[in-house]
Amino acid sequence: MSRVGIGLAGLGRMGRIHAAALAGRCSVASLACVYDANPDAAQAAGAEFDVPWTTSYEELIDRVGAVAIASPTGTHAPLTVQAAAAGRHVFCEKPISLDRATTVAVLDAVDAAGVVFQVGFHRRSDPDWAAAAARIRAGELGEVTLFRTSLRDMTPPNPAFLSGSGGFFLDVVVHDLDVARWLVGEVVEVSAHGAASDPAFAELGDIDTAVTVLRFANGALGVIDNSRSARYGYECSTEVMGTLATARIDAPHVRGVEWRTPGLASRELARDFEERYPWAYAAELDAFARAVRDGTPPPVTGRDALAAFDLALAADESWRTGQPVSVKENP
Ligand SMILES: NC(=O)c1ccc[n+]([C@@H]2O[C@H](COP(=O)([O-])OP(=O)(O)OC[C@H]3O[C@@H](n4cnc5c(N)ncnc54)[C@H](O)[C@@H]3O)[C@@H](O)[C@H]2O)c1
Repeated sequence: MSRVGIGLAGLGRMGRIHAAALAGRCSVASLACVYDANPDAAQAAGAEFDVPWTTSYEELIDRVGAVAIASPTGTHAPLTVQAAAAGRHVFCEKPISLDRATTVAVLDAVDAAGVVFQVGFHRRSDPDWAAAAARIRAGELGEVTLFRTSLRDMTPPNPAFLSGSGGFFLDVVVHDLDVARWLVGEVVEVSAHGAASDPAFAELGDIDTAVTVLRFANGALGVIDNSRSARYGYECSTEVMGTLATARIDAPHVRGVEWRTPGLASRELARDFEERYPWAYAAELDAFARAVRDGTPPPVTGRDALAAFDLALAADESWRTGQPVSVKENP
């Protein structure tokens, strides 16, 4: 079966992870061409991955049938709409946009174009998370009573990224809100608290620490804790407690070796999402390629992304107002 050549837009922190996946770890998708607004970044990635490079999005679109967009969040909507209008399938990093009306307009544009559209919530493609999700779906957990998840970066991203990120809830907590819907179900109420332990975040009107409490439609409760600078390492762990069993998903170590000295055992922790999730990022691009080639459903739809975005907006509002926010099902 032929592989699906992907044109990659945006070659920064996330784009280079996708480039490495497409050029090495993927088995269905492959890297066809790279594009970045910065010619140095485009040329360097073209040379490193031995593919054509360009600083023209039109040229990228002309060369491929499908694109993956990993440029800054503010560029996702126009690049997606342009690709879809040209009949290209689109994988887009989260979030689709920082604005709800624009997000809905993007979903309408991809629907109208009839192209495959997938959003980058990679945990849905991680083997550990997917295995737990399948057993929860099969009813092995019984009724879910409690959801708990932590997503903590070891160190914060650079200030230039933060200023265009949309803030902590839209940029980071949104991942956990997607996982909450995926593993437990729809959320009806969100309460959130936030703090800036580093004054640089307060200067940006942002926070680096948050706790978000969820009420699910099925009666379960959830709690999400997030940090931009956990310092000890990168942590992404979840527990789903049910009436028959509890699922705990956590694989913080980069290697299987434990180093033992008198009275002490130590293991190397993942430092960032690249070290923790190289295979999940490859698997999500392979799932996208299968959706393009074989017509299988993408693991994360635009509607999933809109629902997670709405929950992130609700959390942001709750943090700002100090009040719980009710969430309606999105139209
Ligand atoms: N799924 C995840 O786990 C995850 C992790 C990190 C970032 N992200 C998302 O990935 C996106 C990029 O984040 P990042 O950390 O890689 O940012 P970054 O700032 O490191 O890189 C952005 C790159 O895009 C390029 N660029 C800027 N404008 C462009 C344009 N109009 N067209 C093409 N290229 C352009 C820049 O030159 C740069 O190389 C963001 O939307 C972010 O939310 C997702």
